Amino acid sequence: MFTKVILHNMTSVDGRLDWFPVNMELFYGLIPMWQEDATLAGADTLLAVPLEEADETQNEPSEPDQTSSDNTKPLLVVPDSKGRLRGHWHLWLKQPYWRGGVALCSKSTPSEYYEYLKQHNIDWITAGEDKVDLKAALEELGSRYGVKVVRADSGGRLNGALLRAGLVSEVSVLFSPYLVGGITPKSIFAAPDLESEEGIIQLKLLAVETLDDSVVWVRYEVVK
Ligand SMILES: NC(=O)c1ccc[n+]([C@@H]2O[C@H](COP(=O)([O-])OP(=O)(O)OC[C@H]3O[C@@H](n4cnc5c(N)ncnc54)[C@H](OP(=O)(O)O)[C@@H]3O)[C@@H](O)[C@H]2O)c1
Repeated sequence: MFTKVILHNMTSVDGRLDWFPVNMELFYGLIPMWQEDATLAGADTLLAVPLEEADETQNEPSEPDQTSSDNTKPLLVVPDSKGRLRGHWHLWLKQPYWRGGVALCSKSTPSEYYEYLKQHNIDWITAGEDKVDLKAALEELGSRYGVKVVRADSGGRLNGALLRAGLVSEVSVLFSPYLVGGITPKSIFAAPDLESEEGIIQLKLLAVETLDDSVVWVRYEVVK
């Protein structure tokens, strides 16, 4: 099954993801247009948000887990080969946005993480040796849950892995009116340097819009 993967990020004009204030209302307000079946969140993106006190040593749920039977809500899906979201997942699933969660694991994922997922009724897919094999995981999400549209909510590293694996269909960027600068840019596409021009990804412009008199929203299709 073909899965449409959309990257959606807000950056400074110089393409950085850090330091400048993200207009969350604007950023998340656009998301319903894609009618995503799953939010593919980067583990580090979730770990960067202070939710409540997470307890990484605790396996037992302290209260019943809040998964929703509302099938119109997307799934929350997170590649997490090292099990770093142990102690965090159940807090995310208390949020009202998702109907349930699927952890993407690999053969290197620690057994304690699977125990934690079981305790909290969180599904998982195991694909790949060290890192998660994202292509295989997306295929399994399609066949197991009927996931056809995925929006990545991630920084440069998950974006980079998806782009380098040729899995992205659309790139959406909101350019905010800030310049950040720096020599260690956290860009929307973090991946090993190219060794030839063959790896350059060509984009076809789909739309440009000005929002709130200051933000430029561009959407591109990835030319395959
Ligand atoms: N402004 C925006 O639009 C926006 C949006 C989202 C996030 N952010 C910011 O971006 C920052 C986090 O970005 P980040 O780049 O550090 O991390 P990230 O993209 O959130 O997380 C990295 C993810 O990529 C996975 N990964 C990395 N390499 C992989 C590979 N080769 N194959 C498969 N999976 C791979 C990791 O899984 P493993 O753990 O298994 O390696 C992890 O789930 C945060 O500060 C956040 O606030 C900004």
